[in-house]
Amino acid sequence: MAEVTLDLRDLPKAAAYAALDTQVDSVLAGINDPIAGMATISALVHHAFGHLWTGFYRVVEPGHLLRVGPYQGTLGCLEIRFGSGVCGSAAARRETVIVPDVASFPGHITCDARSRSEIVVPVFDRERELIAVFDIDSDRTNTFDADDQRGLERLLGWFARGH
Ligand code: SME
Repeated sequence: MAEVTLDLRDLPKAAAYAALDTQVDSVLAGINDPIAGMATISALVHHAFGHLWTGFYRVVEPGHLLRVGPYQGTLGCLEIRFGSGVCGSAAARRETVIVPDVASFPGHITCDARSRSEIVVPVFDRERELIAVFDIDSDRTNTFDADDQRGLERLLGWFARGH
């Protein structure tokens, strides 16, 4: 396989996400398997930006329970209820949640004590069913903004496209 894991930290975010879009489509060409998609996207996004933790929590009981899926980083908590923490809030609301400083988010679930800011993006399939959330943690405050939201929501559109 000619593809490599790119470090995109020198690029403006919009350009970095555009490069990731192209790479994800190329690496996953012909693959129609959400777990393979989650593993590949976690690895590429994690190393592109040097994040602290990058990965998926899958919906295992719709409306109730998330369970950890493919990720990169230190040990993640196993299960999160809808409505709990940042991941559970994004799942319950079916929308992206950006937390500039986890100390100011009531109910934040600490998996790695170095985490300072976070973004969680919902993941939908073709039928607009929520299948997972994508969680990224940073060891700095104020890491994530509207560019990340836009870039990640577009990247995660992979799960709603036919392959
Ligand atoms: N901080 C998350 C929990 C998951 S981990 O950080 C890997 C939350 O509050 O939902």
